[in-house]
Parts: sequence; structure tokens; C-alpha cells
Amino acid sequence: MSDNFILFPQDEAHFINFINENYGLIIQAHQLNNLRFTIQFICEKYKIYLPAVLLNKIKNDVQCAECIELIKKITVDESYFFRDEVQFDFLKNNYLPKLIEKKRQLGDKQLRIWSAGCSKGQEIYSIAILLHQLLPDYDDWNLHLLGTDVSYKVLNDAKIAHYNSWSIRIKSDSSYYKNYFNFIADESYALNKKIKDSVKFSYVNLSENTFPSIMNGICSLDLILCRNVFIYFDKKVIEKTLEKFSESLNEEGCLLLAASDPLHIKTQGLGLETEGDVFYFKKKLLTYQHNSVPSSQVEVVKRNALPIKLSDKKNSIKVTSKADNLKTIKSSIIRELSKADWVTALLIIEKTLVTYTNDSDLYQFQAKCLTNMGRMKAAKVACEKSIEYDMLEPHSYLLYGLILMQLGLFSKAEQAFRQTIFLNNSFMEAHYQLGQLLLRQGLKTEAVKFIQNAIDISNKEPADRPIHNVITLTYAGFSQAMKSELALIENKVEFYE
Ligand SMILES: C[S@@+](CC[C@H](N)C(=O)[O-])C[C@H]1O[C@@H](n2cnc3c(N)ncnc32)[C@H](O)[C@@H]1O
Repeated sequence: MSDNFILFPQDEAHFINFINENYGLIIQAHQLNNLRFTIQFICEKYKIYLPAVLLNKIKNDVQCAECIELIKKITVDESYFFRDEVQFDFLKNNYLPKLIEKKRQLGDKQLRIWSAGCSKGQEIYSIAILLHQLLPDYDDWNLHLLGTDVSYKVLNDAKIAHYNSWSIRIKSDSSYYKNYFNFIADESYALNKKIKDSVKFSYVNLSENTFPSIMNGICSLDLILCRNVFIYFDKKVIEKTLEKFSESLNEEGCLLLAASDPLHIKTQGLGLETEGDVFYFKKKLLTYQHNSVPSSQVEVVKRNALPIKLSDKKNSIKVTSKADNLKTIKSSIIRELSKADWVTALLIIEKTLVTYTNDSDLYQFQAKCLTNMGRMKAAKVACEKSIEYDMLEPHSYLLYGLILMQLGLFSKAEQAFRQTIFLNNSFMEAHYQLGQLLLRQGLKTEAVKFIQNAIDISNKEPADRPIHNVITLTYAGFSQAMKSELALIENKVEFYE
């Protein structure tokens, strides 16, 4: 390292601000030396002569190699399989068996679990191993197991799924591990392919508003694990993230933090529960009955993750007379949708549908609300009605495809995405989703082609235009995220230890 390198205190403060504002992370006093060393290391490696120039570069492009490396070096990625025995015993002996039993009774063989801040995948793979043990009919289940992180380096490692003995805490007498890991060489073990293939990994920065969203599969979740992540976060970011977690859970969903994470922070939509020595958050309940889908499909939505009491809202909604213009009503629905107030939007939609029974847009809005509330079967019915009343509206087909994906109906979803593209060849999200679907089927070359199409289409859009289905994500942001995802798929990202 060169002795001539100078990092002025004001530049250091700007880096700390950038990290806090973009990632919610607090740089504590004991981490300052690491930050200074990292800034110097990156400047020297990329031949950047002033830290201020580096800062400018990463501010303009958070997916540049320099920023990826900065994030890798300032985040703590320590993790190992079955970390916290007490919590995993609870999941194995209590929480997961009950959840599985409930789903069996409902005839809904689907589990949706997200590890947020997943590091190299140890946490979500541990869940996949547990499920493999708990489900004799494992192959019949539609498992949506998702690991996300802000560091591309750990995501890349998670996809490779090779671990050292420290990470899997292997015991020589353990048949348990022998069933799930194969010794490669030099203290390195490869995770069993079946378990590896059951998990999807993607980039999600918890401090951004990219979830809940059906676009990235973060909606209607049964369980969120976000352990040992909040300890590095700003309190305000924790509060906001907890709210978004609450919105991402289905009505019975739970959130598990680590024992050392801050449990005292209150969130309206989540209630703290205890079971033995284990603390977890459960979504609070509220009853809402929707009535414009066939009675066989009517599901009782119990949720309380809303800032208002439903009865108060009901009285304040006025869809008064026939003179009320449909266009004005639709604008008010769109306003509620943009605020993610699904219940209020649904109430307006259902009152309006009494008069305007054949309106495709209203059914599409209804499908959107129900999807975000986790009512996938009802959402599917609403979406089918939307398509029935306007067979040429590509947005309905896209939404239909997304819903079918969540329901595990992959070949029908593929048809819906292809239909979307047929109706509008430059529908960026449809190309992206079709790419994701093909990737899932192992058709990498074709998948890459569609994801590349999506990148090309989004590059032609104004950079700051928001993406249709994700509240605050712009075309430029999504294009960057897709490029990085493509690089991960094609193993083109260059990583350094
Ligand atoms: C200590 S590891 C925890 C891994 C695992 N959850 C566990 O408990 O073993 C913390 C992880 O959070 C990730 N992380 C930090 N800030 C994040 C952010 N803003 N969004 C998403 N992940 C983040 C880090 O990259 C790191 O992989």
C-alpha cells in the first residue's frame, strides 16, 4: 500500500453517508480502519487517484466493480449451516411441521420462505434440508425458497454452494451431513444438487423499496428469516424494513430475527410472539371478506398490517352515485395502489364492480390487490375475468403469468408471458420474467436471450421512469440489476478475495 494516499475527513464522512443512505448500514468506530483500508485498496487497484473520484463513480453506478467490491468488504458475511440450534429446533419441531400440516389441510402444497441477507446461502439451504427431512412427498411440493443479499460476491458463492468444514460444522460421525454434502477436496464440501436446485438467489438491497413485489417473488410469504442483518442497520431503516416485511408476509406469516437482533422496535403490522426461548414476529390479524369473485373462491383475508382500522375506512369511502365518473374512480384506485393500501383499493373496486360489471381494468386492479395480499387463487380468478373482458391487454397477461408462477403452474405461466410479448413485443417485464422461467427450467441460453432483450428494451426508456409493478424502481435501476443478474448467470462477475 502506498504511503502517499490521503483520505480527507470530509471525504471519509461522505463515504459513511453514502453507505448509510444507500444500504442502511452504520459504520461504527471500530469499523473505521477497515473502511479506510478498503477505500485505499480500491483506489489503488482501479488506479483512481482521489477518494472523491471513487465516491463520485460509485454514486453514479452502484453496480460498478468498485462499488461491488466496497460492499463486499464492508459487509459482515459470517454465517454457517443451522446457525442457532434453539431457533432451528423450533423450526424443525414446531413451526414448520405446523405450517406443513395447515397447508396439507388446505390442499395447498406450497411453501414460500425468504432468507433476507442470506450471505452464502447457509441459512436458506438449512431450511431446504429441514424441509427435505420433514416432507416425505418433497417432490410434490411447490417450494419457493429465496435467498437475497446486497453483496454479489456472497450471492455468487451461494449459487456455487461449496462450503468448508467450519461453515457446515461437520462432525465425522454425522450421517446427517453425509446425506447432503459431498467431500470435494481441501476441506471443501459440495452441497447436494437437489437441495441446491431448490433455492433461488437474487440481489435485493433491504433499504430499497423493491419489495413487496410479485416481480421478484417477494410477496405472500409464509416465513421471512432476517437474522444477524439488523445489527448493522440504522434504526429508521430497521423500522421501514419491518413494515415492508409485514407487507410481504401472507396473513399467517412470520418473521424470525436472530436472538441478538433488536426485538424491541415496534411495527404496526407485526406482533411479537414467544415459544420457549424463541422470539418471533407474527403478522397481526384483521378480517376482510371480499365478494366479487365466485363464492367457491372467496377467501377470508385476515390481516392487520394496515395503518387504519378497516371499519373507519369503509365509512370514508364514497363511490356515491352513478354520476361518478369511472375514470375518476380508476384514478382514486390507482392512488391507493401506489400507496400499497390494498384493502382500501379493494373496497373501492368491489363497490365499483357492482355498477361496471364488465370492466377489464377493475378486475386487473382487483387481481393486483389480491396478489399483494397473498390471495393467489382469488387473484387468478380476477385476472381471468380481466382477460375475458379485454383479450388484447398485455398487462393482464403479464400479471396472469406472475400469478401462475406463484401458484407453481409454470407451463401456463410461460404461455401467458409469451402471449404478453406477442401482444407487445417491447414489454420489458415479460421478457425478463420469461427469462427467469426458462432459467428455472435449465434453458440457460434461451433465458439469457430474453433477459438481454429486457435489458435492451429498458435501456431505450427514460432512465428515471418507474417500473410498472415496483413502486420506486426505475428503468435505469432495473436495467442495472438485470445486467448484474445476467453476469451472475453467465459467471462473468469478477470477484476478488
Ligand atoms: C452476518 S450475515 C447474516 C447471514 C445469515 N442471515 C445468518 O444469520 O447467518 C449479514 C448479511 O447481510 C447482508 N446485508 C447487509 N446489508 C444489507 C442490505 N442493505 N440489504 C441486504 N443484505 C444486506 C450482508 O451482505 C451479509 O451477507
